[in-house]
Amino acid sequence: MMSTQQDKRIHFIGAGNMAGAMLRGLVSSGFKPGSLSCSSPAEAETKRLVDELGISASADNLEYLRDCDAIVLGVKPQILQSVCQELAPFLASADRQPIVISIAAGTTTQSISSWLKQDPDLLPLVRSMPNTPAQVGMGASGLFATAAVKPDQKALTQEIFEAFGIAVWVEDESQLHAVTALSGSGPAYVFEFIKGLADAGVSLGLQPDVSRQLAEATVAGAAKLCAVSHDEEIAGLQRKVMSPGGTTEQGVRVLQSEELTATVRRAMEAARDQSLYLAGEGPALAKN
Ligand SMILES: NC(=O)c1ccc[n+]([C@@H]2O[C@H](COP(=O)([O-])OP(=O)(O)OC[C@H]3O[C@@H](n4cnc5c(N)ncnc54)[C@H](OP(=O)(O)O)[C@@H]3O)[C@@H](O)[C@H]2O)c1
Repeated sequence: MMSTQQDKRIHFIGAGNMAGAMLRGLVSSGFKPGSLSCSSPAEAETKRLVDELGISASADNLEYLRDCDAIVLGVKPQILQSVCQELAPFLASADRQPIVISIAAGTTTQSISSWLKQDPDLLPLVRSMPNTPAQVGMGASGLFATAAVKPDQKALTQEIFEAFGIAVWVEDESQLHAVTALSGSGPAYVFEFIKGLADAGVSLGLQPDVSRQLAEATVAGAAKLCAVSHDEEIAGLQRKVMSPGGTTEQGVRVLQSEELTATVRRAMEAARDQSLYLAGEGPALAKN
């Protein structure tokens, strides 16, 4: 059954990787293509989305903004300021205030509000951190809403992000640094682990293709098992596959003695610190 949100007018500024993934998720989860649009100077990208999804597109960022319920800022952080300055006169004269949703990494709601020439206490603005598995409908997004976001706008935002994965709200904008370090950067940590499994499989005598398939399916299967057993402690799931004196117990013992969890925590702290630095809220990290 169609939800009350799925005929809402949503416009994307930018038509690249993330905007495309979000638009594909929206159409496949039932949002009406006739209510969706995007704008970008990249003609080949907008044409691909128009042909594939039946949405509308323009090279003019302002063409489809009238009567919009949500405007998604889907451009790179370095051009967000100029795009916001282009939108500011429209927002100043709009009859009703659409929610503005930013997917730009590291750009604060304070900066976006000031570029849009809006009072940060009055602008309904969501800052989000999606991740690349959005491209296969399995994204994990952290969301922060400013005080002016109304409950129906929050529900629309939730539905937009759930169209391509899971979405969780954080109460404090500064928590998005931790979201960035976990789910934003996390796919690359998991790729590193999959690569480690696959390479080690080869060194133990498997064909590269066989080893990679087993590594990929093992990580995907374990994550799925963890998700469907959400009420159970992860350590409990681990014990279930570790019979005393068995093979798994030996392997896990090595991972624990090499302090894998402490290594993961250090990786996340480094990613969090870089996120703080990029936002101008922390010192530069030594590159070594
Ligand atoms: N990809 C990720 O994994 C990921 C994850 C989390 C958050 N994000 C955030 O998502 C945002 C988009 O990233 P992306 O990977 O999707 O980038 P992308 O593929 O480069 O897409 C950006 C799009 O914006 C277009 N554009 C450039 N200038 C524009 C303008 N003035 N008005 C309208 N559109 C304009 C670009 O066109 P041209 O190609 O012609 O420049 C391109 O179509 C970034 O802010 C990033 O921080 C990305």
